[in-house]
Amino acid sequence: MINADNTLQDRFGRGVEYLRLSVTDRCDFRCVYCMAEDMTFLPRNQILSLEQLFDIAHSFVQLGVKKIRLTGGEPLVRNNVISLIERLGQLEQLEQLHLTTNGAQLDKFAAPLKAAGLTGMNISLDSLQPERFKALTRFGDLKKVLSGIDAARDAGFNRIKLNAVILKGRNDDEILDLVDFVRDKHIDISFIEEMPLGHISEHDRALSFISSEQIRNTIESRHSLTPTTENTGGPSRYYRMSDSTSRIGFISPHSHNFCHLCNRVRLTVEGRLLLCLGNEHSVSLKEIVDRYPGDELKLREAIIQAMDLKPERHHFSLDDEPQIVRFMNTTGG
Ligand code: 5AD
Ligand code: SF4
Repeated sequence: MINADNTLQDRFGRGVEYLRLSVTDRCDFRCVYCMAEDMTFLPRNQILSLEQLFDIAHSFVQLGVKKIRLTGGEPLVRNNVISLIERLGQLEQLEQLHLTTNGAQLDKFAAPLKAAGLTGMNISLDSLQPERFKALTRFGDLKKVLSGIDAARDAGFNRIKLNAVILKGRNDDEILDLVDFVRDKHIDISFIEEMPLGHISEHDRALSFISSEQIRNTIESRHSLTPTTENTGGPSRYYRMSDSTSRIGFISPHSHNFCHLCNRVRLTVEGRLLLCLGNEHSVSLKEIVDRYPGDELKLREAIIQAMDLKPERHHFSLDDEPQIVRFMNTTGG
């Protein structure tokens, strides 16, 4: 539904102010928790054009959305994505324009992104050991990503956050090293519990699971953590250390349900509006923009109606087969 002040609200009284926009399902990495080794990507005619992505994002901003995060796949592998970011960067009502990236091309893109109006970014980094990094991402070159992180800092982004997915037996011995790294670079980090999105055979998710609480205990063996009430509009719960500006966040889809605070929806690059990461409820906005190009009214109507489909919560479980067959790269991280 729509409120009197022209903002979106779902059936459970949650305002929707945050859009995650997937601009491609492709990626130059194949992280073991995200993708199968062998992936088939969407053909061009099934994905939204940059123009359509802009039109949809613009409609959301007209409906009160204050924050947009570009995701993928890897957003920076989409041709000419900077032109989309430039247009979004000019929307005055938009308060935050963020990007989630694997960092592999940031040495080249950080400065142009800043100039285009990007206000912050999340960079995925699960290991500081080159060989292990390569094993976890299947293709990634750690050196490139580390220079990308430095390029982002040099470009003057003041909110840079790392995302680390911790898997037992793979990189759980690097938790303190990752914390030292962000303290040294004066950036933030979120530790993420692996989510059961898509079928992977590389590892058993139930065996590799490690909870946010275990990760926090490891960190507290060296640093005392004070919870903060800070909320960046995402699902992270943040902690601070007394001797550092870095914040440490935990995203815990298994151990802490954050659904009651959920203020966001996702658009896949196929134009499906997903109302929840952990459910299949969706509405095709591609049908609307294909059929009625440039018709803002039709688009806004479809978005307003879609809000009624947002479910109350997700039901992730480690024991069952994934209920969600989409991979993260088609979902939009
Ligand atoms: N579970 C948890 N996090 C995931 N990511 C990708 N797939 C999964 C998954 N199955 C993370 C990446 C990246 C962010 C976009 O999502 O590490 O940081
Ligand atoms: Fe690519 Fe990100 Fe998925 Fe890794 S997690 S394969 S970097 S989209």
